[in-house]
Amino acid sequence: MQVVKHINDLQTILDGKREEGLSIGFVPTMGALHNGHLSLVEQAGQQTGFVVVSIFVNPTQFNDKGDLERYPRDLQKDVDLLTSTCCQLVFAPESDEIYPEPDTRQFNFGTLEQVMEGKFRPGHFNGVAQVVSRLFDLVQPDKAFFGQKDFQQLAIINEMVRKLKLPVEIIACPIIRESDGLAMSSRNMLLSPEQRKNAVHISATLFEAANKISGSSVEELCKWVTNRINENEYLDTEYFEIVDSVTLLPVNSWDEPCVKVGCIAVHCGKIRLIDNIEFK
Ligand code: PAF
Repeated sequence: MQVVKHINDLQTILDGKREEGLSIGFVPTMGALHNGHLSLVEQAGQQTGFVVVSIFVNPTQFNDKGDLERYPRDLQKDVDLLTSTCCQLVFAPESDEIYPEPDTRQFNFGTLEQVMEGKFRPGHFNGVAQVVSRLFDLVQPDKAFFGQKDFQQLAIINEMVRKLKLPVEIIACPIIRESDGLAMSSRNMLLSPEQRKNAVHISATLFEAANKISGSSVEELCKWVTNRINENEYLDTEYFEIVDSVTLLPVNSWDEPCVKVGCIAVHCGKIRLIDNIEFK
């Protein structure tokens, strides 16, 4: 596995692999890798001939400076983890390589970016679209792999690919959970032991809610989830919404003919955690 920091090295290697006839699989990350990321790498290895992982903490997608500063960074640890996977190339650029000048592009994703994360993290998805489109441009992957934990991000990236007519296939990969159910996230490592113990209440409540849909309306279930999580003194729900998986707009009734996903963001001290579950 090679590790490169510069675009010209990245592209020289990728040109060679394309000439060998290999398809390129791409897993963009911000590092602080965990088994969720490794499952994306494994998928990429199964579906493509050459796997690239990028590690770049993208400043333009952080609307909270403290969150950006706190974001865990340990390149050596990430590289060590990737060594035992099917990743063949790590691209770990500095900021000026990705943004030689400030990226002033403004994307418009309509209502997709106005709800949930978009409402509470203004500018976040514009930053995600800036960096992902830039990375796609540099890597030119055949397939790119994203986790469904970031459900809204996935919808935004699909929409960006559709709008910009980018020649890349987006592969959605399932949420990977800790053995107690907590969705894997780089932010989990920032939790204190007490917070970590209590954070499991988020997924446990979602699992319980998924079994309650026959006895309650959508509105009742939303209230129930929020109240139940907020009963825990370590947790404070920012939003819980049950949405149409395509439009991301709230559903009002279980009878609506769409796939319904319950999406949640919860503050655990200063750490903000998200999760989601499909209601069937
Ligand atoms: O999901 C992430 O880790 C980031 O939002 C991404 C897609 C790597 C862009 O910085």
